[in-house]
Amino acid sequence: MDKHSAIKKIGVFTSGGDSPGMNAAIRAVVRACVYYKIEVSGIYRGYQGMIENDIVDLHVRSVSRILSQGGTILKSSRSTDFMTPEGRALAFKNLQERGIDALVAIGGDGTFSGADVFEKEFGISVIGIPGTIDNDLYGTDATIGYDTACNVITDCVDKIRDTASSHNRLFFIEVMGRDSGFLALRAGIASGAIAVMLPEEKRSIEDLVAILEEGAGNKKSSSVVIVAEGESYGGANEVARQVQERYSHYDTKVTILGHIQRGGSPSNYDRVLASMMGVHAVEALQYGESNKMVAIVNNSMVLVPLSVAISKRSEIDSEMRRISRIISI
Ligand code: F6P
Repeated sequence: MDKHSAIKKIGVFTSGGDSPGMNAAIRAVVRACVYYKIEVSGIYRGYQGMIENDIVDLHVRSVSRILSQGGTILKSSRSTDFMTPEGRALAFKNLQERGIDALVAIGGDGTFSGADVFEKEFGISVIGIPGTIDNDLYGTDATIGYDTACNVITDCVDKIRDTASSHNRLFFIEVMGRDSGFLALRAGIASGAIAVMLPEEKRSIEDLVAILEEGAGNKKSSSVVIVAEGESYGGANEVARQVQERYSHYDTKVTILGHIQRGGSPSNYDRVLASMMGVHAVEALQYGESNKMVAIVNNSMVLVPLSVAISKRSEIDSEMRRISRIISI
């Protein structure tokens, strides 16, 4: 495909829940723009900054020393104003006045839903980069921040395990992921959890208690159950309460890991993924692509329509579920 020469100035922004590696993606977008001699602006606070004209020009050195930083230097928000036609019209006017004719949107499904509508209404070119710890976007093997969050969770559970063993306790540890169990399943395998409660798999409290009793019968001194925040009982507190009712002799504790899971320096994997996706996003715009997400599939960069990424559900790996059951006895 020939390079499309019409793109003059790209606006890059981060939106929705932040994730480690977003800065690496911003850096890659800016550096690729400089490399290809395209102007680039940073839009603060996602769609809200677009509406409020909170936009600055970025240069090659604007993104120095951010590769290793968690969070996002461009800040983030979940904009309700952008859900209105008036908000989007104002955002488009601000972009036009600054000569921004293409966007790179870094975020998750909410970000891409907004981008999809915006592109269709105003015809502005937009490429999405999947940035979310949840890994819940269809069409990509990984999202930026997922690997780091898995590592953070594993580190936290290892620490909890130390004290759980010392006191022969049963811990219920709640992890993020909204209505997806990717974080929970991977963290459960990596941290030796006796069971994982997933949104994708309704497990009865009786089944869970049976697993715990089997563990106790196998002389397990401490147990960790990883509970995805989106599972059907409503999270770790409720699962623990119901288990305690039936299993009152166990010393039970609950830890909700919360936003610690979104922080910290991005892993090597997330930095590399973000760097590759950032460059590919700029190149896709140059080739005239629009309304697509950069994705990684079998270690290759591909483009997936935004409408597909947000409308289909990303399924957790059944093989990982099987392995998790076998090794957690
Ligand atoms: O989508 C990322 C995520 O961290 C989810 O795992 C979680 O449910 C949600 O965002 C929390 O959102 P907030 O930071 O707005 O409370």
